[in-house]
Amino acid sequence: MPDVIHGAVSTIFQQINRLSEFVVNRQHRPRLMSNLLVTGSSGLIGSEVCTYFANKGWQVHRNRADVLTIMQKLQPTAIVHAAAQPSHDLAAKKPFEDFDTNAVGTMNLLEAAHRYVPEVIFVCMSTNKVYGDAPNELPLTEHPTRWDYALPEDFDGVKETMRIDQSKHSLFGASKVAADIMVQEYGRYFGMKTCCLRGGCLTGPNHSGVELHGFISYLVKCCLEGRKYTVFGYKGKQVRDNIHSLDVARLIDAFIHAPRCGEVYNLGGGRMNSCSILEAFELAETVSGKKMVCDYIDENRDGDHICYISDLNKIKTHFPAWSVSKSLNEIFEEIYRSWISRGRKSEITE
Ligand SMILES: NC(=O)c1ccc[n+]([C@@H]2O[C@H](COP(=O)([O-])OP(=O)(O)OC[C@H]3O[C@@H](n4cnc5c(N)ncnc54)[C@H](O)[C@@H]3O)[C@@H](O)[C@H]2O)c1
Repeated sequence: MPDVIHGAVSTIFQQINRLSEFVVNRQHRPRLMSNLLVTGSSGLIGSEVCTYFANKGWQVHRNRADVLTIMQKLQPTAIVHAAAQPSHDLAAKKPFEDFDTNAVGTMNLLEAAHRYVPEVIFVCMSTNKVYGDAPNELPLTEHPTRWDYALPEDFDGVKETMRIDQSKHSLFGASKVAADIMVQEYGRYFGMKTCCLRGGCLTGPNHSGVELHGFISYLVKCCLEGRKYTVFGYKGKQVRDNIHSLDVARLIDAFIHAPRCGEVYNLGGGRMNSCSILEAFELAETVSGKKMVCDYIDENRDGDHICYISDLNKIKTHFPAWSVSKSLNEIFEEIYRSWISRGRKSEITE
């Protein structure tokens, strides 16, 4: 097996010619693996995964090639599938493109892996949107700054046993469900080592941060620029759990070293890293020393979760050495510093 990590940068399979790859030559031999294929490696998670493994002593190169040929020729030991169309709004405007990217693209990648490297470890970045709005059925109580779960059994958050059907997903959520189920099926039916990581809010200093995607990053950016941040419904008390992309990469590493077949894991920052929008305002104001400017529209986004915290107990049981290493404060600090350094180029002042 060649002594390299391979990472696909751009596309999935239906757009074979757009697929490119990262090739990372190992300087220090890892114990268990030799090749890694990463899709979506220009994105938040894909880029963190590439950096994480490169920092373990691998040297990065880049080129473009036919992904079927890559799969056959390079025989990756592991694949991290982080390429996706991530927008609910875009999915509604361009449903075929959304489904082609999220569902068909995943299917193509899975089938190529099944044909040419059935022993590969396949990690798919899924989403908590596979549950649609079913988590909103959990009984809640209202607190001064947040909604929270009313029942003690829900304290740690949403478990992987939450149902995924008969709820409202958005077309994006539905195309991700198709991918998630297919990844599970290649594990259960063919015995492949696959898992879906159902992300909550995955973030970090490399997040692009736009209004409807990348909530903390966008919120901190608004705070810095004095730009108005619009809160949509739920009194600003809607809760999200936030995880740094480095901790996502660390979990992927743990799975690659102890893979299982057809698993699903809810992955977020857990209760310790959860905050409501109102609480996030306070954190942003603390790191930036500036006041948030906001307005409120008394209508929530369609199907938006009211309180979503990922229950991390299954992950902790399967991978006891893994835990969330970056606190919410650290995440805000890093995002703030990242916007400052990006802002120096576009004249945001500290
Ligand atoms: N960031 C989050 O909060 C979050 C939450 C839950 C789930 N996820 C999931 O994690 C994964 C990674 O998310 P991210 O935050 O890094 O997103 P991102 O938008 O930063 O990166 C996605 C990458 O996919 C690539 N891509 C999009 N369409 C493509 C296509 N047709 N062919 C090839 N590449 C394509 C983009 O160029 C980009 O590099 C996605 O599957 C996403 O659904 C993310």
